[in-house]
Amino acid sequence: MRLPVAELHLHLEGTLEPEFIMDAAARNGVVLPWRSLEELRSKYRFTDLQSFLDLLYVNLEVLHTRDDFEQMTRSYLRRAAAAGVRHAEASTDIQAHTRRGIPIEVVVDGVRAALDTSEDDYGITTKLIISFLRDRSPDEAVDVLTRLLASGARFDGIGLDSAEVGFPPSLFVGLYDLARANGLHVVAHAGEEGPPQYVADSLDLLQVERIDHGNRSLEDAHLVARLVAEQIPLTVCPLSNVRLRVVDDLEQHPIRRMLAHGLNVSVHSDDPAYFGGYIDDNIDAIVDRCGVTNDELARLARNSIDASFLDAEGKARLH
Ligand code: ADE
Ligand code: ZN
Repeated sequence: MRLPVAELHLHLEGTLEPEFIMDAAARNGVVLPWRSLEELRSKYRFTDLQSFLDLLYVNLEVLHTRDDFEQMTRSYLRRAAAAGVRHAEASTDIQAHTRRGIPIEVVVDGVRAALDTSEDDYGITTKLIISFLRDRSPDEAVDVLTRLLASGARFDGIGLDSAEVGFPPSLFVGLYDLARANGLHVVAHAGEEGPPQYVADSLDLLQVERIDHGNRSLEDAHLVARLVAEQIPLTVCPLSNVRLRVVDDLEQHPIRRMLAHGLNVSVHSDDPAYFGGYIDDNIDAIVDRCGVTNDELARLARNSIDASFLDAEGKARLH
């Protein structure tokens, strides 16, 4: 029996399986650089974050219609239910679609169609996070958020992802001020490839409620002490960390060290179709390869629920 968990670090575009990508390309008349499923599969070897992003952004161009976005989200939720996920806070990289001419409504309405029936269909409550691409201009991000707010689209928070180094949190203060002024939750990727200072700046300048990844915080004892004292949630993704070379191999993954420090960590899947697995695969991997104990697993599951944006009643229902 799997413990109930909350998935808090999940990019919907990173759940597109190779078969889905090839089918959607054929359906929508999109010409991909790869001619077959086998050729596409051979591309899933990454040397760093950018080498993965290059593939992710090509593949997501197969998404064109509202139905494509709904099917992507449904496929994910179906798989997540089997993994023990009871609550999912899923994100979409909306600018990866708007920049190629897909209207905001096509993305949001498609994703929402699946999220809105998720509790009945899959037993999973949901929240939606709109993630902004830090390697695009902050002005564009503010413009997209402004249009989203005006559109009446229902979403719960914003995030910040894509290439990290060279795109510090300080660029996005205006975006985060706008989000918080509109009552949105705020999270950001930090300390995946970027330095510990990006984690501190995400807290100080963007006032984020959670850090996605946060691995490199371990390089700064002061920062670790602060993260422990303030119990800032870090959404850690072990299989992603191995595939993007944030850690050398799974045996070296710091998840147990993070728990021993008293950090508020939980385990998530990031881009499961690209990194070798969903949340259950991540959990099984850290048990098998890092020796994570049953007590530690219970702590990780509890942390995932407590770090969610569910209200107290929603959290109590999952504990
Ligand atoms: N976009 C999708 N996955 C990401 C990750 N792990 N880091 C930064 N941007 C991403
Ligand atoms: Zn991520």
